Amino acid sequence: MIENLSEIRQEYTKFSLDIKDVNSSPFHQFKDWFQVAIKSDLFYDPTAFNLSTCGLDMMPSSRIVLLKSFDENGFQFFTNYSSEKGNNLEENPNASMLFYWDKLERQVRISGSVEKLSAIDSDNYFNSRPYESRIGAIASNQSSPLISKHNLEARLFELKALYPENPPRPENWGGYNVKPISFEFWQGRESRLHDRIKYRLNNHNWEIERLYP
Ligand SMILES: Cc1cc2nc3c(=O)[nH]c(=O)nc-3n(C[C@H](O)[C@H](O)[C@H](O)COP(=O)(O)O)c2cc1C
Repeated sequence: MIENLSEIRQEYTKFSLDIKDVNSSPFHQFKDWFQVAIKSDLFYDPTAFNLSTCGLDMMPSSRIVLLKSFDENGFQFFTNYSSEKGNNLEENPNASMLFYWDKLERQVRISGSVEKLSAIDSDNYFNSRPYESRIGAIASNQSSPLISKHNLEARLFELKALYPENPPRPENWGGYNVKPISFEFWQGRESRLHDRIKYRLNNHNWEIERLYP
């Protein structure tokens, strides 16, 4: 039993974020913070983010995935289209992304609409992955019940014999693009008076406002 959680209390004091200092483009603002997170060497994987989806059952569902690229069109990640997140996105193509870089006392929240990447983009990324990861992606019915670990190992063995090289990308594996409609940049401050800057897309323009902590 872990006791006294209420005594775990951190102060956030490292940086500040003022509306007059942020970039007019949320993509550039994200790029600035993302580069700091990567170059700081403080994180095992600064590309990891929480992806939340919600299907027709109206029950939100969250998991970590890895950001593989981003540009002004959106943020790209790769997964199994038949997984729980894939099924959720089929039913409701909206998602929320959340990065938390704790040692920088920063959080970035992004929400937007989601579309599958083209087969060519998915092929290109799939073919750039290590052989074992490609075989693993073919073998795994991600998010379906696995009765015995042996079933997965046997399938991996078969697939390696079938495809000693160049395993093909399965049709149900590929990338998604999250096209943002809002961003929020959160910088931890002293006494919980955190800085929050929100960007909202309105008629192709990004409107920027400060939020109460
Ligand atoms: C650090 C980390 C990185 C991950 N990266 C991915 C990823 O890029 N793509 C993916 O499909 N799952 C990734 N996962 C696994 C997912 O969190 C999740 O278990 C899996 O995608 C199944 O999710 P679902 O059942 O909600 O669809 C990662 C997990 C962790 C902890």
